[in-house]
Amino acid sequence: MCGIIGVVSGQQVHQKLLDGLLSLEYRGYDSVGMCTIDKNSLILKKGIGKVQEVHDKHDFSRNGGKIGLAHCRWGTHGGITDENAHPHVNEDKTIALVHNGIIENYAELKEFLAQKGHVFSSETDSEVIVHLIEEFYKKVPLEEATRLALHRLEGSYALGILSLREPGKLVAVRNESPLIIGVGKGEHFLASDVPAVLKHTNKVIYLEDKEIAVLEKGSCTIIDYDGKAKEKQAHTIDWGVEAAEKAGYGHFMLKEIHEQPQAIAETIQERLHGNDVVFEDEINLSADEMRGVKRIILLGCGTSWHACLAGEFMLEELAKIPTEVEYASEFRYRNPLIGEHTLAIAISQSGETADTVAALKEAKEKGAKTLAICNVKGSSITRIADGTIYTRAGPEIGVASTKAFTTQLAVLYLLTIALAKERKALTGKQIGSMVQGIRRIPLQLQSVLAEDGEIRNCAALYHKKTNSLYLGRGVNFPIALEGALKLKEVSYIHAEGYPAAEMKHGPIALIDKEMPVVIIAPQDVYTYRKILGNIEEVKARGGIIIAIATEGDREIPKKADHAIFIPKTLYTLSSILAAIPLQLLAYHTALMLGRDVDKPRNLAKSVTVE
Ligand code: AGP
Repeated sequence: MCGIIGVVSGQQVHQKLLDGLLSLEYRGYDSVGMCTIDKNSLILKKGIGKVQEVHDKHDFSRNGGKIGLAHCRWGTHGGITDENAHPHVNEDKTIALVHNGIIENYAELKEFLAQKGHVFSSETDSEVIVHLIEEFYKKVPLEEATRLALHRLEGSYALGILSLREPGKLVAVRNESPLIIGVGKGEHFLASDVPAVLKHTNKVIYLEDKEIAVLEKGSCTIIDYDGKAKEKQAHTIDWGVEAAEKAGYGHFMLKEIHEQPQAIAETIQERLHGNDVVFEDEINLSADEMRGVKRIILLGCGTSWHACLAGEFMLEELAKIPTEVEYASEFRYRNPLIGEHTLAIAISQSGETADTVAALKEAKEKGAKTLAICNVKGSSITRIADGTIYTRAGPEIGVASTKAFTTQLAVLYLLTIALAKERKALTGKQIGSMVQGIRRIPLQLQSVLAEDGEIRNCAALYHKKTNSLYLGRGVNFPIALEGALKLKEVSYIHAEGYPAAEMKHGPIALIDKEMPVVIIAPQDVYTYRKILGNIEEVKARGGIIIAIATEGDREIPKKADHAIFIPKTLYTLSSILAAIPLQLLAYHTALMLGRDVDKPRNLAKSVTVE
């Protein structure tokens, strides 16, 4: 949950490092630092605050030199202090290091090193690594000292290291925390993700776990933990920096909410051939295997876990496949029983969420066929799964996930159609109407986005409330959970999502005139009449009703304080449409409260530590 960037070049690097920091800031923003080597001295500047604040205070442009490292922190060990900011250095400031991850055995290593006379200047686990490397860095090159030190580390780490003794060399290490190598013209980069280097190169090498890269301005060699050389290909990234810019929107979150029609169109169009869903070789499942799947396990965290819940509804209701949903963090520490013909599907925007990566590995080791639904090419999860269906949402920078979520739902819907067809769980006519339904979604999303005025009005009326409830049934219960999470994440207002029928079992005690209740109430054959009853229950107790209703519904507006309309669609697809007003409600509420919408407090975009 930190961002790291390093550059070794024939030119000055402070601006390249600053560009990288600004692009990586969404990964962690409690403190920032940069170090470079110039005229054989190590220049180190770091402090508390966001990138621009620390730059304003320390002026990174005065970090001369053609090699450097920089880091933006989301602290796991040690408070938010100048000393705990990265880069970390050894006592005589001849070696510097940046780290993303957690060193699980840092306490014993710290004791071992202190007994050897090492003096620590921070409370962090990361600082242990630079002193450990120094221990081995007597008569061997930096990469060898690093390699020897790594054998003593337990935990997750992406590292960047430089040394005054070898001022033209960067060492990069990856183990369970993301790290890519940017291959530039006469320069090389190490970075936590691709957007951090895109301004300077679109050629990247994805490091695997337990790989070490030795970077000089004109060369990149990769070795494994045994010191053996490894050949790796560079990939060409096919999207540009502009895709990661705000494009005139006030925040990435708003831009990404409005990108959803395009994102879903990109995600579905090449996979729809007439009334057929075609995944080519993405899912790496033969027709027999698709027919033979006896059980599906959906794994995810946060918003992706909500997508899993919606997927469970689709797969059981439409493809008739027994499906269960697991919090990845819980699954990995149970001893799950994986029977024959089990398909484990990991859903993750970043593809780097530590718990989801570990849960997928667990399922795979226990014999499940595995599939990833992911938004980042080459990310860890995509290299563990037997197959990957990419959401084509483009880079999602806002910490609060929006377009990744709805494209995950779209992929799950397509997968449901493909499985239902292969298993003859639905008639051709039913499948045809499902395909037509999802084809209409991008356009229908445009009309939901046009409801922004009413949504903004609700935010204006209720942004000072301190609690909120979100209710839904069936496929829209996960959407209620997602709406509550969005509000919590960006506005810091306490919100809970519940199945609407659960109100009677306790939560209804919370209802009073101070409680806004968002109820997802599409006109459907399943639960519409029941939801009307739930609205009555809340109304009778003075609650404020914000209803997500189907265009043309005349009942709901009579009962609700506010009705936000979504177009008529198939029941399961209403989940995609209903998510949008909830995203906008959270966005406007947060804005009116003056929150940092793209970088909410305490959060980071990718939870790459446990
Ligand atoms: C979503 O708005 C949150 N930022 C968070 O819950 C996120 O969904 C979760 O951390 C999982 O991330 P992933 O999809 O990248 O695995």
